[in-house]
Amino acid sequence: MAGFDTLRWRDGRLEMLDQRALPSVVNYLTYTSAAEVAAGIRDMVVRGAPAIGCAAAYGVALEAHRLRAANVHEFKTSMDAAFKILAASRPTAVNLFWALERMREHWRSVSSSTQAQVANHLIATAQDIHSADIAANRSMGGFGAALLRDGARVLTHCNAGALATTGHGTALGVIRSAVEAGKSISVFADETRPFLQGARLTAWELMQDGIPVTLIADNAAAFLMSRGEIDAVIVGADRVAANGDVANKIGTYGVAVVANRHGIPFYVAAPISTIDSSITNGKEIPIEERSENEVTGYGAIRWAPAGVAVRNPVFDVTPAELVTALITERGVVHAPDTAKLKAHLAVN
Ligand code: MRU
Repeated sequence: MAGFDTLRWRDGRLEMLDQRALPSVVNYLTYTSAAEVAAGIRDMVVRGAPAIGCAAAYGVALEAHRLRAANVHEFKTSMDAAFKILAASRPTAVNLFWALERMREHWRSVSSSTQAQVANHLIATAQDIHSADIAANRSMGGFGAALLRDGARVLTHCNAGALATTGHGTALGVIRSAVEAGKSISVFADETRPFLQGARLTAWELMQDGIPVTLIADNAAAFLMSRGEIDAVIVGADRVAANGDVANKIGTYGVAVVANRHGIPFYVAAPISTIDSSITNGKEIPIEERSENEVTGYGAIRWAPAGVAVRNPVFDVTPAELVTALITERGVVHAPDTAKLKAHLAVN
């Protein structure tokens, strides 16, 4: 297991590892309300689809805990506001909305209880979401590991590791499980402009585990593929449409196109909670656009001329036809399409 917690519940508070400060500083920030957690999600203290979902669940639980002595009207009004502010924190990762929906269902199921009982139930539900995520990642890891040969050189984009989940990771979970199974795996990590999740987070996380990782500029991936230096690509996902189209970190689509050009398998590892069967294809996935400051510099450093026009879409959509296989906690869907995904979701 990774030697850090992305999220942890301590004495009625949520602590989140501040991912903006990694890898230089390992620092946990403390949260006591839904509004604070929503700001933490928006500002990228926590990021990665499953981790965002779990943080939002804790945000709801925190709010109920904070309001446990409030009157019925105040409790309901403030809880409704909490759901709203959390849902507005980031638009693309469907795990956020999935987790909020689960929390709302659980709130409804105990609505005749006292506020303190509701709070305890919602805390337990958030903790269940937390541990179920780790279990899903482990299961996904087992299925995905079988797809990697001993000695494989694997490219990944962004961070779909323990930092993007509540532990083990999705894409990096597959790599971790393959290593645990005794395979020798080495990783190429795309730096992942503009927010540098690959350079700052994936590289750090894999080095912590002693898994060989080589950092490359995003622009170097196509060259390495053309030279036969990459055997497989594995990425995570923020939302998978009913037909298997995959929204993931900006740049993923380009990686998939080049992998296809060179006959390199392109795998997507994502839990069932990332599949949004309410939308038919990737065109319907809302794509977040973030601040121009993420493109014109990083932190306090600016490298672009002041006033330049900037676009910063932070996700893109890879069409299902470029996905060799989708790996979930239920198994592997080869060449996913609407029919296969429907059948996959019907299992269990
Ligand atoms: O903007 P981010 O860092 O939240 O984007 C994260 C990604 O794109 C990940 O690849 C995705 O959420 C999968 S995480 C298991």
